[in-house]
Amino acid sequence: MSKTREFDNVGKIIRLLNGINIHPAYLLLPFSLAALAAAFEGVGMGLLIPLLNGFLERDFSFIKELPYLGDAINMLPPTILVSDKALFGVLLGIFVVAFLLKNIIKYCSMLCMSFFTYRAIHHLRKQIFTRYVSFGKLYFDRSSVGRLSIVLSEFTGLAFQPVYEVSKHFGALMSLLVYMIIMAMISWKLTLFILPLFVVLHFSIKIIVRKIRTMSHQIAERGGALGKKSVEILSTIALVKAYKTESYEKERYSNISDQKSKLDFKSEVFQHMINPTHEVILLFALLLLFAAMMFLHVHDQSGSAPAFLVYFYLMYNAANKFGVVASLRNSLAKATGPLDEVLEVFEDNEKHFVKGGNKEFTGINNQIEFRNLDFSYPESRKVLENLSIEFEKGKVTAIVGPTGSGKTTIVSLLMRYYDCAPDSLFIDDTDIREFKLESLLSNIALVSQETLLLHDTLRNNIAYGLDKVSDEDIKKVIQQARLSEFVSQSPQGIDMLIGDRGVKLSGGEKQRVSIARALLKGSEILVLDEATSSLDTLTERMIQEAIDEAVKDRTAIVIAHRLSTIKHADKIIVLEKGKVVEQGGLDELLEKKGVFFELWEQQRFD
Ligand SMILES: Nc1ncnc2c1ncn2[C@@H]1O[C@H](COP(=O)(O)OP(=O)(O)OP(=O)(O)O)[C@@H](O)[C@H]1O
Ligand SMILES: [Mg+2]
Repeated sequence: MSKTREFDNVGKIIRLLNGINIHPAYLLLPFSLAALAAAFEGVGMGLLIPLLNGFLERDFSFIKELPYLGDAINMLPPTILVSDKALFGVLLGIFVVAFLLKNIIKYCSMLCMSFFTYRAIHHLRKQIFTRYVSFGKLYFDRSSVGRLSIVLSEFTGLAFQPVYEVSKHFGALMSLLVYMIIMAMISWKLTLFILPLFVVLHFSIKIIVRKIRTMSHQIAERGGALGKKSVEILSTIALVKAYKTESYEKERYSNISDQKSKLDFKSEVFQHMINPTHEVILLFALLLLFAAMMFLHVHDQSGSAPAFLVYFYLMYNAANKFGVVASLRNSLAKATGPLDEVLEVFEDNEKHFVKGGNKEFTGINNQIEFRNLDFSYPESRKVLENLSIEFEKGKVTAIVGPTGSGKTTIVSLLMRYYDCAPDSLFIDDTDIREFKLESLLSNIALVSQETLLLHDTLRNNIAYGLDKVSDEDIKKVIQQARLSEFVSQSPQGIDMLIGDRGVKLSGGEKQRVSIARALLKGSEILVLDEATSSLDTLTERMIQEAIDEAVKDRTAIVIAHRLSTIKHADKIIVLEKGKVVEQGGLDELLEKKGVFFELWEQQRFD
């Protein structure tokens, strides 16, 4: 039979702990404290027998002859040694102190363990977050944000739950050992007799735990789906409202939540079965034990009544402690699903990393060049095909073409969102893959087609990713992006909050914030992907002046459907289905009377 799979989770947890640079040896302190607590518990339990014996016989003088304890007691002043009451007091005192120490030490052990676990969870979350942000954009194109956030917020804790509980289990194991020793000291015959009980307990718990383990995966899966659904719906609430799909979505959400709650319950059904099964088996065992005690007492005349009483008590406690030790299997089984999900984040496959090279990017000398580049997204047709285009330094190059022709994809490759094949994209004859990502991207400012805004102040949105930006600089770009009037209407000025993903702004205002952000970055390369598509013609014309000013002496790539905005471009590239169909200056293309001319004519009266 293969080693049970719950215990594979111990290996997984150790791998995770090593992965986050926490050595499992840190567990030694709480473990040692738990062992010490068990030792004190043993002392306390061991003292119960002389206490009861003395109490029944009204004579405590025998404790002076006991091994170890007797030696210690004989060192006390003779006045105490002759008084039964005083001896009883001493014994009771030691019993109480041992009991108190056990509890104090156990508490310290638990505190150490909590501290250890919560630090471990913090480091795990930090590492997972670091991993997430290092994954390529393609990974996020194919994942759901809700699911990723559930892994971060919930599964990290659940994966380390067994660590949190392990000191409890370890403490119980130590107590169990101590009980067994005392029990064997009282009567080894009885102890041998009841050992098979623990084997029965072990197997009955194992069967239940197997059920819990399979369910843990399903629960983790449903938990992820629930997170995914809630984030999806809450972030597209306007769509839900527009299509009046509230009840439809409510139903779908309720179905997933219902499935999860039923699974949670089913898992509890098995978990709660552990204790009663345990107690019933224990009851039969105690009856057997009672019979065996009677037998020994009658036939062997062995054992005193208090010793049997203590034995009985120890036996009951030992079985309970065994239950606690065995529930380690349960908590390990429950962690299976979350552990696997968390470990998956640390696997490198399917993460679509885009790795930079070692070269520092210091700026363009001549041009950016796409050389016979082919590109397709996974499981899709070729989006760019044998693309050969150049963007010259200090010039404005426009890309036009029908929707879906691959314009944004060109920008995404330049931004290194996705990796391209080697020797297909160059900056001054150096493969773009050789540049350090940080130095390359700090030289590109992008106004993306999709406006990306944070739930923060206007100032922080504009200055995102830049350190030490003066108010003057921010005000300057706000003016350039024609946002001054909008800002002056708000009492908070640039410290106004713009809402989640900028919901408090109009489409045109959002675009202008993105433009201001790109202008503030002031990079050598400026990329504008449909940057002014939501603006009215008047505002667009005003911003165009600011952009024309900003792109002077910079290398600019401008993508636009509205051709009036690219009139001043030095070169226009016309793209269709991922291929260049025409390129050249505005006059040259108009004279050619080809594809561009047709587009131009169509828009003349717009
Ligand atoms: N992340 C992605 N995964 C898979 N396919 C994608 C992805 N992004 C874009 N595509 C596909 O690639 C093609 C080109 O898309 P792209 O966004 O480059 O077009 P575009 O020219 O910018 O269009 P538009 O003018 O509408 O912005 C489209 O057919 C699109 O469906
Ligand atoms: Mg696009």
